[in-house]
Amino acid sequence: MKLTDELRNSLCKQAADAAVDAYAPYSKFKVGSAVLTSSGKVYAGCNVENASYGLTLCAERVATAVAVSAGQKNLTAIAVASKDAVSPCGACRQVLAEFATEETEVLIASLKGVLVERISLSELLPRQFRFQAS
Ligand code: THU
Repeated sequence: MKLTDELRNSLCKQAADAAVDAYAPYSKFKVGSAVLTSSGKVYAGCNVENASYGLTLCAERVATAVAVSAGQKNLTAIAVASKDAVSPCGACRQVLAEFATEETEVLIASLKGVLVERISLSELLPRQFRFQAS
């Protein structure tokens, strides 16, 4: 799946659209995410908070789980949109690594869906943990 600027911008817009449905009554911090898989299909998700704070699901993990549930296990790019254009938290980086390659792009966007920064997942999370069964 070859990435173009048009595709990147569209992914950022879809991430921002997903943020509209964020369930964030506690932090009020809405996040949306959209992942592009190697099939060319896009899957989106938002953060889903919980009264028991630690059970909160981040948008990136929701979008990834939606893609995997649809049989898409190879992430070409992931866009994450929020008010402050935040980059994925550490836990999400490790979850993304499970389905990413060296080239998987992380697109950090505003809530308007404007691309603010582009970085590879391996830059965000060097020396990722990989399970090696003995
Ligand atoms: N959040 C995400 O959805 N993704 C991140 O990478 C960082 C944080 C959410 C979790 C919580 O609902 C809110 O942002 C504030 O932490």
